[in-house]
Parts: sequence; structure tokens; C-alpha cells
Amino acid sequence: MVDVHCHLFPGIDDGPLALKQAIALAQRAVAAGIETAIVTPHILPNRYDNTLAGIRDAAASFRDELLARDIALEIGYAAEVRIGPEIMALAEAQTLPLLGTIEGYGIVLLEFPDSHILPGSDKLAAWLLERNIRPLIAHPERNKEVMRDVESIARFVQMGCWLQLTAGSVSGVFGPRCRERSRELLERGWVHLIASDAHDMPARQPELEPGRVAAEEIVGEAESWRLVRERPGAIAATNYAFQ
Ligand SMILES: [Fe+2]
Repeated sequence: MVDVHCHLFPGIDDGPLALKQAIALAQRAVAAGIETAIVTPHILPNRYDNTLAGIRDAAASFRDELLARDIALEIGYAAEVRIGPEIMALAEAQTLPLLGTIEGYGIVLLEFPDSHILPGSDKLAAWLLERNIRPLIAHPERNKEVMRDVESIARFVQMGCWLQLTAGSVSGVFGPRCRERSRELLERGWVHLIASDAHDMPARQPELEPGRVAAEEIVGEAESWRLVRERPGAIAATNYAFQ
């Protein structure tokens, strides 16, 4: 399986604090059947001021650490980018981190605040789509506005954004409400990918299989594999790390 949203680099965001925990997460990912991880540190101005260049360096040194320990996890890199006007400057400077490219569109992992959908979010999404950058909206099932009304995300899907569910939401780790919203999004056929959003152990682990199994009940086995293997695999194949 291929995980397109996880926080594995030490000390760069709210993922693992130190290398020891980061290595443990990578080992856990391998044990859970994940072959490739695109690591997506937060870019959140004034809190996590990560850049594409800094993330590239973090990826290179983490890959060396994994090689030295014989841990067979392929490492790609991008970012989980918080929605905000600075995204436009990054896109214009070609430094907006992308997961990869599929169907002619670069894919940016876009994070909304948990509390609500900011006014103007649809305009920014449309601006990106016009430039052949497709927002992949991270865990909409955990957004309070979507939790109240799943239809509040509909306009984003209709304009061409993709949605990424967190595996633990689908399997019920984050409670019945998150699970229910995940199911509703899957039933509508609005979900393109499932990812782990792993941060630390044991609360948020790099695991996809429990989420895939839960999704299989709703979308069938073939589509459940497309969510965790085929589609993320096609994106990862074009990630910076594998060019
Ligand atoms: Fe995340």
C-alpha cells in the first residue's frame, strides 16, 4: 500500500519529536503493509514554516537513516499545506509542494482548519484548478462544518477537488461521528484516497488496512484497493523523490 499523508520526519512539525520515534513509526508502517510513504510535514505560517527545500533535505537524511537500518520503506515527500493566500505565491514560484501528478494535474494536499470552511476557500481551489493543480482536501470528515452537514463539501467535489479520508476515521478510531461522516462521503463516491495521517505512536499510527477493510463494506473490494494502492501509487510514482 501507499500512504500519501503522514508525518514521519523528526522535529519538523507535530509528528515524531526525535529520530528514535520516527524510526519506530517507519518500522510500524512496513509491518502494516505500507511500501511507500509520501511524508507530508505541515506548512502552516508562523507555526510550521516548512519549505519545499527544507522538506527535501529532511527526506534525504531520513532516507539515509532508513537505509542504514535496512528498513524497506520508500520515502517520498510533499507537504500538508494549510489553506491561505500565501499558497498562490508558492504556486507561482513553483515551490508549492505536490504529492505527484495524475491525469494531467499536480496534486496538493490541502488542509482546512478543523473548525470550519473559510470563506473564499472555493475561490482558491478554483484558482489552483485553473493552473492544473488539484487540491486533495485532507480529512474533510474531521472538519466541524462537514460533521454538521456532509453536503457542505459538495461544491468542492463538483469543481474537481479530491477528498482524502483518514484511515482511522473510516475504521472508527476517532469515534462514531467521524466514522459516520466517512461512510457518507464514501457512499456518495466523493472519496479518492485513504491515508494514515500518522503522527506518533500509539495514538495515530501509520496504518491503512483497517480503513480499507471498513471502506470495502461500502465501495467494494476493488475500489477499496484503488483508495490505498492504485491511485496513491500512481501519484507517488511521480513524486519528486522518484523522478
Ligand atoms: Fe496531517
